[in-house]
Amino acid sequence: MSQPSQARRFLLRTHGCQMNVHDSEKVANLLCHAGLVATQDPERADLTIVNTCSIRDKAEHRLYSELGMLRNWKAAQPGRVLGVGGCVAQQEGDALLRRFPYVDFVFGTHNLRLVPTLVEASARGNRIARVDESGSLDRFDLPERHPDLEPSRPGRAYVTVMEGCDLFCSFCIVPRTRGREISRPADSIVAEAEALAAAGVREITLLGQTVNAYGRQSIDRGRARNAPHVPALVPFARLLRRLAEIQGLARIRYTSPHPLFFDEDLIRAHAEIPSLCPHVHLPVQSGADRVLERMRRRYRRGDYLRLVERLRSARPDLAITTDLIVGFPGETDADFQQTLDLIREVGFVDSFSFKYSPRPGTAAARLPQPVEPAEAQSRLEVLQALQREFTLSAHRARVGQSAEILVEGPSRRGGNQWSGRDPYHRIVNVAAGPRPTPPPGTLVQVRIVDATPHSLIGEIPVGPDPPAVMASGESVRIGAAPDEPHGYDRHHWRNAIPGA
Ligand code: SAH
Ligand code: SF4
Ligand code: F3S
Repeated sequence: MSQPSQARRFLLRTHGCQMNVHDSEKVANLLCHAGLVATQDPERADLTIVNTCSIRDKAEHRLYSELGMLRNWKAAQPGRVLGVGGCVAQQEGDALLRRFPYVDFVFGTHNLRLVPTLVEASARGNRIARVDESGSLDRFDLPERHPDLEPSRPGRAYVTVMEGCDLFCSFCIVPRTRGREISRPADSIVAEAEALAAAGVREITLLGQTVNAYGRQSIDRGRARNAPHVPALVPFARLLRRLAEIQGLARIRYTSPHPLFFDEDLIRAHAEIPSLCPHVHLPVQSGADRVLERMRRRYRRGDYLRLVERLRSARPDLAITTDLIVGFPGETDADFQQTLDLIREVGFVDSFSFKYSPRPGTAAARLPQPVEPAEAQSRLEVLQALQREFTLSAHRARVGQSAEILVEGPSRRGGNQWSGRDPYHRIVNVAAGPRPTPPPGTLVQVRIVDATPHSLIGEIPVGPDPPAVMASGESVRIGAAPDEPHGYDRHHWRNAIPGA
């Protein structure tokens, strides 16, 4: 391998969802295995790769202005290489090479393994776009983490369990950018999780566009006939149970599930698996049946509400968050009011909300009755104001409890604070005070003392025994809170009604 001083340096710029973040981790690992070295400094980089998102119009346009800036970066030094990957790359393919003559290579969402080859080819002056869709499991065969590659999220890791989406919701570009649904063999997932746990990872997040559809090809779709291509799949809940047996994994999360794929066993898993975090991000999109139908979401408002009830009977303190779209074609004010009602009825702890953005080639892009942009904007603001009230109330309901935080690093709030997430995926900021900041990836017990609409404020309980040693990869209690071992069981988010 080349010495770091001579090795070419790469920088990855990532947009979009967790799948893209994880794809960038995979590309970084492949480049390290090919002898390149990661850098955060554009001036030192010989290779820049932009990993793109096209979920909404804005995301795509951001790429085009970014490429303008990278044109200057590339021109500033001969020999610099610029690559574009991700969902825009998958859609546009070699059109990107034509439109941006200074882009050296383009790779699609199924072609991560080709990146080192494409980098080599561009060093020889070849400009190549590879966006071949593949139904093969090969794309899951990736090398283990290179020892020179710093983990991007100490103590935490993403694990891909399935990719692609077959649902074709009418507004969504993802089935076109990520291709057909495919599940990764369970043994390979378990082996990766075991290796991560052995390397000190405490929390894994299972990733998939419809993550809880995992394994269904061989279960109810008759594709078992193609067994050589889809070996050893198990239902998603059974996969969770296998992962829960791995020593050292304190937390298991999954994202994003689709309401359609919650079976009894998955719901029971939330009652039975202690390491399965009490948080489900459950995108609903709209509270109105008329809109859900035109969105082709395959459930009705009542189905969603029943699912929420079933999940809450399994795990009463479950934190439920969601995604919402306003201004979908034909959405009336009455439809929108039903979405607001749904927010009140479920009491989402948080939500991501978006104005509908027509995407090329999707069914909804051809629907009549667009909502005026100003109207969509005002609906978004009303919705977000309502959500803020619910989030703040949910946060306030936590004050006085203790919580176990997985430390992420210095807080965005600055001021000598660090932050991390509790089991419900809420951000908790803690003032470091005179104590050393615990290392990222450590589990620390704190008491929640205050709440804002964005995060919780924690304090390390003052106790007689400050920790002697704080080892990354071990659960550490700083100070003592002997009278309050957890506090989770008593907490019900549902009681967190604004103003109550
Ligand atoms: N697979 C997930 C969603 C992935 S996309 C699911 O089925 O729930 C993430 C979110 O982006 C979606 O939940 C939706 O709220 C939003 N989104 C997707 N396409 C959009 C569009 N065309 N306009 C606005 N928001 C969109
Ligand atoms: Fe998009 Fe629907 Fe698939 Fe989610 S389930 S990725 S919203 S098509
Ligand atoms: Fe964006 Fe692709 Fe993810 S479109 S949201 S990066 S799957």
